[in-house]
Amino acid sequence: MLRTPVAEALGAASAASEIRIGGWVRPRRDAKGFSFLELNDGSCLGNIQCIVDEGTAAWDKLEGVNTGACVAVTGELVESPGKGQKWEVRAKDMTVFGLADPETFPLQKKRHSDEFLRTIAHLRSRTNKYGAAFRIRAEAAHAVHDFFYQNGFYYVHTPILTGSDCEGAGEMFRVTTLPLNTPVKPGENPYAQDFFGKECSLTVSGQLEAEALALGLGKVYTFGPTFRAENSNTPRHAAEFWMIEPEVAFTDINDNMDLAESLTCFVINRVLERRADDMDLFDRFVDKGLVDRLKGMVAQPFARCSYREAIDILKASGKNFEYPAKFGLDLQTEHERFLTEQIFKRPVFVTDYPQEIKAFYMRLNDDGKTVAAADCLVPGIGEIIGGSQREERLDVLEARIKELGMNPEDYKYYCDLRRYGSCRHAGYGLGFERMVMYLTGVNNIRDVELHPRTVGSADF
Ligand code: 4AD
Ligand code: MG
Repeated sequence: MLRTPVAEALGAASAASEIRIGGWVRPRRDAKGFSFLELNDGSCLGNIQCIVDEGTAAWDKLEGVNTGACVAVTGELVESPGKGQKWEVRAKDMTVFGLADPETFPLQKKRHSDEFLRTIAHLRSRTNKYGAAFRIRAEAAHAVHDFFYQNGFYYVHTPILTGSDCEGAGEMFRVTTLPLNTPVKPGENPYAQDFFGKECSLTVSGQLEAEALALGLGKVYTFGPTFRAENSNTPRHAAEFWMIEPEVAFTDINDNMDLAESLTCFVINRVLERRADDMDLFDRFVDKGLVDRLKGMVAQPFARCSYREAIDILKASGKNFEYPAKFGLDLQTEHERFLTEQIFKRPVFVTDYPQEIKAFYMRLNDDGKTVAAADCLVPGIGEIIGGSQREERLDVLEARIKELGMNPEDYKYYCDLRRYGSCRHAGYGLGFERMVMYLTGVNNIRDVELHPRTVGSADF
């Protein structure tokens, strides 16, 4: 007999004489002559209650079935007399797949701290909060694909192994098959004996390759894992995270912001609509008022202000920042959050940063000092999107590459895109985990990734 997902059983239109539910026990409660098994199968937040009466075949198999055990119950789906649920199962028979020893199974309490749960990340999906977080994450990913599909974008798959440092920040994980301490003779290329015969790393962004595809396919996006060996132990940085990177030919920085705003709103709306029960959990237990706040965010346009304006606002605020705001310096998280939370009280795009603090590929503005960048900052997090119009003029791009001391040979292909049929184009990168944090109100990136990889930690 086929298993009915709990989500389906709880939403059934009518009773059923026979149904089979598989799931994990959360928990078991005994009364005189019968037992309650709350079963959760991950299909939704809710559990279905199964009543096991003395005298049934299921009753005879209850021995050792406790919180955490995996079972399948066969029985009748009947209207529940209890409050809180419409349907329950009157068990006839049961298959026990796997017991969970109550002495050692760690998820006994109703609530555990996030810190404790990180130490058993492989079991987190069996809790209400993390089950909900991973379902929301899945829904958001699906929404991203739907959004781009509906808007005529091609989903492209850029390489994970790469030779170029897109962000030029030198934060790449090197990939090698050479044994540690392989001796290198003076003057010899250390990678000559390596797998690729040259230096290779894990990508920090698929942008450069996405640009090549955009200048052939028009509108493309990537959505894949990216890796950064940033030595920043913060609640917003992970060494492995997923990024969504659209790249569009014939567009400028304003079109780019419009696209970023519509994607963000589309994902928020979709998750609110399709994962209302999971969102309600975060609204009640993690971040009070979350759902109303998100609804408010999508109801009005995001704010926009230039970097220069942002610096002026920060200076005039009279606030004592740990790092004082100064023109020419990058915005710190404290500045970003102040702008979006206190000043604009909604997501804000900050545009036109000084060239020196941004990556080499951003288009130089007519002032010769700032670049056509746009970062989107959101309350509770700070930067969630980094994007720009790209430098499409070959001479300007080549000059910048040289100026920064980068090796022009490494960027030959990238420059070819300007050499042959160049055009205006723009794109951005949306950090997917930061998006999920924003959606759920979770304030640590470690709690929206299955097995977070951060400085000094790569468990499982
Ligand atoms: O601003 P970033 O570095 O931009 C780029 O990589 C561009 N090449 C993207 C593009 O234009 N196609 O990163 C983009 C976003 C950030 O705004 C942030 O949300 C996320 O990626 N991000 C991280 N998320 C988690 N952990 C980290 N260490 C992150 N670094 C960046
Ligand atoms: Mg950035």
